[in-house]
Amino acid sequence: MSDYVRIFDTTLRDGEQCPGATMNLEEKLRVARQLALLNVDVIEAGFPIASKDDFEAVKTIAGEIEGPEIAGLCRCLPKDIERGWQAVKGARKPRLHIFLATSKIHLQYKLRKAEDEILRQAVEMTKYAASLCANVEFSPEDASRTERSFLAEVVEAVIEAGATTVNIPDTVGYAVPWEYGETIKYLRTHVKNIDRAVLSAHCHDDLGLAVANSLAAVANGARQVEVAVNGLGERAGNCALEEIVMAIKTRREVLGVDTRVNTQQIMAASRLVSQITGFPVPPNKAIVGSNAFKHEAGIHQHGVLVHRATYEIMSPEQIGLNPEEIAQGIVLGKHSGHHAFEKRLKDLGYNLTQDEVARALERFKEVADKKKVVYDEDLHAIVEDVVATGARPTYTIDYLSVTAGSHLIPTATVRLRKGGRVVQRAATGDGPVDAVFKAISSITHIKGELLDYAIRSVTSGREAMGEVTVKVRYKERIYTGVAASTDVIEASAKAYVNCLNRILV
Ligand code: KIV
Ligand code: ZN
Repeated sequence: MSDYVRIFDTTLRDGEQCPGATMNLEEKLRVARQLALLNVDVIEAGFPIASKDDFEAVKTIAGEIEGPEIAGLCRCLPKDIERGWQAVKGARKPRLHIFLATSKIHLQYKLRKAEDEILRQAVEMTKYAASLCANVEFSPEDASRTERSFLAEVVEAVIEAGATTVNIPDTVGYAVPWEYGETIKYLRTHVKNIDRAVLSAHCHDDLGLAVANSLAAVANGARQVEVAVNGLGERAGNCALEEIVMAIKTRREVLGVDTRVNTQQIMAASRLVSQITGFPVPPNKAIVGSNAFKHEAGIHQHGVLVHRATYEIMSPEQIGLNPEEIAQGIVLGKHSGHHAFEKRLKDLGYNLTQDEVARALERFKEVADKKKVVYDEDLHAIVEDVVATGARPTYTIDYLSVTAGSHLIPTATVRLRKGGRVVQRAATGDGPVDAVFKAISSITHIKGELLDYAIRSVTSGREAMGEVTVKVRYKERIYTGVAASTDVIEASAKAYVNCLNRILV
């Protein structure tokens, strides 16, 4: 058996299904380009039948991205498969990924079909997909709760019908590692044509076991794992790309396998996805959290100074971080030039366009004017802010003024610029932030429902930057906006405007 595990990334499909993680076409393209730099084997670019936007995104990614295979997800229905094929057929290496539920609970309540009907549909639709595309993946949805004998029957039949990859989804994150590993082993020993397809793991993290389950699958013969950057995905998310890739790399001698991922692009991928979706990475997150390579306890610090391997099982360089800069903590001053600034962003794992570097430098100078020292955390917030604002935002803030106090009605005056036009409105609210949001809404006429407003301090101290994240529901979809500033009212206004701009895109 091959000792190479394919990495199938579903950040743009299962990841994007996560409420609030909606991405527009430009953002999806940026993530796809970064996934190509990571050298993943497959990019699942979307669910083409789901919407016109999804279709366009998959088609555009298929047309542009070289290297990885480009997959589109389809239900086992002719119209889905036809649409999926139209979206991916322009790719250098297209893949159709079709799925149909096989567990008793899904058959009884969701599909209202008997097992023999499901088997027939799975075979017919696999044949149809294979008639269009030589590369077909079949997923028996809720496989981990499907009776093993029926699962084996379906797997054998779809391979016979032309499936080249068979994925075994733990759709609801219910499996435990040895049980999921056993299922993979069972299929390898009970499905007679199993060697004609690649077995794949697709694990959700409802019990926090997605990575462990995926590793158990690999240990039992799966040679593809489905992952998402930062573990993004439906509900608690999918198996985190960075965690399984680094687990395989770090414990190669135990697992006996490897991936082809360029791990030095991991940090850049994590940051990009976090910036675009507005989902912050917790500091204690494995591999990509800001504390992942920091040592606090004196005994640990001493150990690391004497010999890094005493307390470090991986090196920061492996994921694209520069260890000296992590140790230093403090970065550039306000007199720093373009080159030093750009290099610093590269060291921190960013792949930005020239325009973004220029805009980030401008923001950095503003912040450096207000703060004595600018830390790495501040730089992350600045880049997040710049990426979230986008190169051509529909609305930008021209002027903002707020009055508030214990005996005053909070009032905000906001002037927004759209193209060459400026519009100014004033509004009162329950508090200064509410007043600002109301003034902005009265200019843009976008009446979304504010679902969440969160503020966090980027660093400590009185002049610390505040980072604001807002989530707005608009026409059944949830949009996120992020912005940072040393003034939290300004950060709130910018985050709200960024969110509305994303709705407009
Ligand atoms: O979780 C799941 O079952 C899925 C399938 C569509 C592969 O995402
Ligand atoms: Zn899934």
